[in-house]
Amino acid sequence: MISRAALLYLSQKSELKDFFLKLPGFDQVTRRFIAGENIDDAIAAILELNRAGMTATFDHLGESTASRAEAESDVREYLRVLEHIEDAGVNSNVSVKLTQLGLDIDEDYCLRNARRIVEAAKRHDNFVRIDMEDSSKTDATLRIFRLLYGEYGNVGIVLQAYLYRTEKDVDDALAMGARIRLCKGAYKEPEGVAFPHKSDVDANFVRLMKKLLRSGIYHGIATHDEKMIAATKEFALIECVPRDAFEFQMLYGIRRDLQFKLAREGYRMRIYVPYGEYWYPYFMRRLAERPANVWFVLKNLFKG
Ligand code: FDA
Repeated sequence: MISRAALLYLSQKSELKDFFLKLPGFDQVTRRFIAGENIDDAIAAILELNRAGMTATFDHLGESTASRAEAESDVREYLRVLEHIEDAGVNSNVSVKLTQLGLDIDEDYCLRNARRIVEAAKRHDNFVRIDMEDSSKTDATLRIFRLLYGEYGNVGIVLQAYLYRTEKDVDDALAMGARIRLCKGAYKEPEGVAFPHKSDVDANFVRLMKKLLRSGIYHGIATHDEKMIAATKEFALIECVPRDAFEFQMLYGIRRDLQFKLAREGYRMRIYVPYGEYWYPYFMRRLAERPANVWFVLKNLFKG
């Protein structure tokens, strides 16, 4: 069976996208994890989630943008998204990746692009979550996040439990009063920066989750792992943290059963809804998280 490491390696090879697209039925397979190609597809998916008592976060798929024209087109897309959220009356915020906004081109340029989105979100009374990418981007991402948080306040960060550095980053973000999305981390990282074993990542996740819940700030606990979810529920109960004082977050199309169950139980549940044409790296990371998903893909490709 293909390994997680091999799938993460393939996720960095965007040139393979065209090969996959030529496979009959492949676009249907991606639909399990991606809401569609345009804003209206994402709005339709979010309306359905809202009806089921869940909130959402828009993700216009894109990363590692190499041209200013592409970065600016992404900024415009996010400005449109914020307008559509208001016009359609959906309950959703937005998530952005800084390499999509030009971080690989120039940090100040990226800051200016991100500022336009955060400023527009402020006008719309909305919130921007800055996704965290691979560890070569962590410092720059945090620098831009801190500046924007200081200027506007309506912005939160993602921190990854697999990095050794994250406990300190959590402490710093909590000292600022910032909202954190805690996740395990999705990128291929060297052993020097990240825990190589799942058991250590899980233990760190639980340790950091406790800090977050004790902080009195509204955070997102982003995981599909039933053990992490059970640990969060139990800790909240013991510490008398009310169910509306934090939210669980999951990815579109993953563990839908669990998403509905938590919402029914009265927990706040936010779904990350990706859409757009640049789906390849996002899709491959989802396969890497659960190599059994490769069987799902193969079954669907060859069933007809
Ligand atoms: P884990 O990988 O241990 O999986 C636990 C169980 O969950 C599996 O056994 C399976 O049942 C289910 N599961 C997990 N992934 C699945 C998949 N792809 N398909 C089917 N089942 C699956 N990462 C990052 O580096 N930066 C970021 O900004 C974000 N943002 C983000 C937002 C949100 C809302 C979520 C939920 C996750 C992220 N992530 C992320 C991804 C995160 O780091 C991590 O890679 C995935 O959530 C998988 O980790 P789990 O915590 O689900 O546990």
